[in-house]
Amino acid sequence: MKSDNPSRRDVLKSSAATFALAAAGGIFAAPHTAHAALATNPKPLQIPPLEVGRILDGVRVYDLAIQPGTTGFFDGVDTKTMGINGSFLGPVLRMSTGDTVRMNVTNGLRENTALHWHGFTLPAMMDGGPHQQIEPGAVWSPEFKVVNKASTMWYHSHQLHKTAPQVWAGIAGLIMIDDEHSNSLDLPSTYGVDDIPVVLQDRDFTRSGQMPYSPSMHSRMMGLTGNVAMVNGTVRPFFDVTTSLVRLRLLNGANGSIYTLAFSDGRSFDQIASDGGLLNAPVQMRALRLSPGERAEIVVDMSDARTVMLQSVASTGGGGGMMGGMMGGGGPAFDFLELRPGDLAQTSPSLPVTLANLPPASAQGVNKVRKFELQMSGMGPFAKFRINGETMKMNRVNEIVEKGVDEIWEVSNTGPMAHPFHIHNTQFRILDRNGRAPGAGELGLKDTVLVDANERVRILIRFDHYTDPDVPYMYHCHILEHEDAGMMGQFTVV
Ligand code: C2O
Ligand code: CU
Ligand code: CU
Repeated sequence: MKSDNPSRRDVLKSSAATFALAAAGGIFAAPHTAHAALATNPKPLQIPPLEVGRILDGVRVYDLAIQPGTTGFFDGVDTKTMGINGSFLGPVLRMSTGDTVRMNVTNGLRENTALHWHGFTLPAMMDGGPHQQIEPGAVWSPEFKVVNKASTMWYHSHQLHKTAPQVWAGIAGLIMIDDEHSNSLDLPSTYGVDDIPVVLQDRDFTRSGQMPYSPSMHSRMMGLTGNVAMVNGTVRPFFDVTTSLVRLRLLNGANGSIYTLAFSDGRSFDQIASDGGLLNAPVQMRALRLSPGERAEIVVDMSDARTVMLQSVASTGGGGGMMGGMMGGGGPAFDFLELRPGDLAQTSPSLPVTLANLPPASAQGVNKVRKFELQMSGMGPFAKFRINGETMKMNRVNEIVEKGVDEIWEVSNTGPMAHPFHIHNTQFRILDRNGRAPGAGELGLKDTVLVDANERVRILIRFDHYTDPDVPYMYHCHILEHEDAGMMGQFTVV
């Protein structure tokens, strides 16, 4: 047997793959080239400032200034960016369930923006979607009650047709919600010590170290993926671990990249929360797929005191098969964050066996079904991204939903690539994927669900609070290039 014959089978397979891709529209992966001139040594992970606001007449008030700035991602290079109360990204906002919060958002940009509270249940006027634009120099002060449970949420630009460039530039940040139940659990919860915000992103830089938003035709189609990974805006970050257990609050804050996260030594970890809060119990896994907009909290055991890298591994797609893998279901390979245990000063208590008690999601007795078809068609300048045949129109309300009624939303993807489907103002449950139960990490509360090519995902959804016949909320693909291209619709709750 000759071992150096890379086998006719592989050759045939790869030419078949090439053919399939070409047949699907000639989409080929864009090469990623890093610029040698841009260098940086490993740096300590930046922990965003924690902002708890100030209490004014019983209201927790945050002052958020959206502004341009410059950021030093690389040695000796100033990169033009945008941020909130800083030059890139924003502070982590901390609040508790039951708080009434007010955000004084000042737009210091020379263009309109909007700031959306992703994952929150709140009045439509306060949502920060495309209907709540803030003009340059203006202040927008939404106020709402925090009704969500303990969870990791986020905030980001939602300017119509400009969400992708503004998030790319840095207009995003994390939000941590605590509640009495989460406070009562023995979970790693010292901010910046064993409870770490981890905003995962990738960016493309020019030779001179700038990151203008200039997606190629390919990136407009596939979602923009850069060649430089960053966490909380730090390129090549490491974190000095001092406890045996570390909780990472992961956000995929990328424009278009789906990450399959794993540790370099293959160690397992526990997922303890999904988008909307704690899972019923820790779920042990070795790899976690996270699409743009999704969050997951994981706890990793570092008691062996070995340095390990959190990576996104190139994936051939989980469920989308070859096409899913090559066209969106998988994702790019990056080294994201090195965990460096020194002397582990502290032995953490072991994880609680029970974290929450969500009832199982059931479709029984639910009569109202809505269907959403995610559609991608055409090539290059003629590419169209639609939901149920429509692109986003500010003056069209696509769906009118009755408050307090259980519904099933059937989201099917008839296009060639995976789309993360996000719905405002709710946390939903995933019933099934192509008729099969979702994985254990997806049994909890979700506001964004990745729908693979040729997949139909059924979710159980209900809007329990607030009505407004005039102001709509959004549902959309969270690949920001797709959202900006119109893969978004509107609904009101009445
Ligand atoms: Cu995270 Cu409509 O967005
Ligand atoms: Cu949202
Ligand atoms: Cu999409």
